[in-house]
Amino acid sequence: MKQFLFVIICIFALIISLYPLIYVFVEHKNTFLGSKPSEVLQNEIWKSAFFAHIIFGGISLFIGWRQFGIKFRNKHLRLHRIIGKTYVVSVFISSVSAIYMGIYANGGIISSAGFISLGLVWLISTLVALIQIRKGNVMKHQQFMIYSYACTFAAVTLRLWYPLLKNLTQDPDNSYLAVAWLCWLPNVLVAYFINKKNLNTD
Ligand code: HEM
Repeated sequence: MKQFLFVIICIFALIISLYPLIYVFVEHKNTFLGSKPSEVLQNEIWKSAFFAHIIFGGISLFIGWRQFGIKFRNKHLRLHRIIGKTYVVSVFISSVSAIYMGIYANGGIISSAGFISLGLVWLISTLVALIQIRKGNVMKHQQFMIYSYACTFAAVTLRLWYPLLKNLTQDPDNSYLAVAWLCWLPNVLVAYFINKKNLNTD
C-alpha cells in the first residue's frame, strides 16, 4: 500500500512538473497569464519571477521524489547529494520568486497570504533540512525534507483541488481563495503524520 501511494505521488509529480512546458507551446494570452492585469504583465520583475518560478518549481517537483527511496539513496549516495543540491537551489529560486509573485496573486489578500505563507514554509523547511544535514543530523534532515516536498507537492494538489471545488461550488473566485490554503495545509499535516510514524517505527 505504502509503495502504491509512493508510485501515485511520483506519477502526479512527473506529470505536473512538465506542465510549465505549456508556456512554450501555448500562446501566453490563452494561459494563466491571460488572467493577469496588464500592469502586472508589464512589470519586468514579475515576469522574470514568473518564469524563474515555473522553471525551477518544475525542476524541484521533477527530481524531489527520487530522494525518498531508501534503496536508491543507499546505493547512489553521490547522486543523492547531486540531486539534493539541485533541489535546494531550485526551491530557493522558485520560492523566493513565488513569495514576490504572491503579492500580486489573483483574488487579493486571502490568496496572497496563502501563497506567501506557503512560499515561506517551503523556503524555510528546505533551508532547515540543508542546515541539519550539514550538522550531520540525518533524522532531522529527512523530517524537514518531507515537509519541504509536501510544500513542493502543493503544485499538484492545487491542480486537483481547484477543478474539484470549482465544479462543486460553481464559484471559481472563492474556490481560488480556498485553494491558496487548501493546496498546502493538508499536505503539511500529512507530512507531520509521516514524520511521527517514522519516529515510532525507528
Ligand atoms: C510550493 C510553493 C509554491 C508557491 C508558494 C507558488 C506560488 C505561486 C503563485 C503566487 C502563483 C501566481 C498565482 C496568481 O498570481 O494568482 C503561481 C503560479 C504558478 N505556479 Fe506556483 N507556487 C509553488 C510551487 C510551484 C511548483 C512546484 C510548480 C511547478 C510545476 C509551480 C508552477 C506554477 C505555474 C505553472 C504557475 C502559473 C499558473 C498556471 O499556469 O496554472 N508552482 N505559483
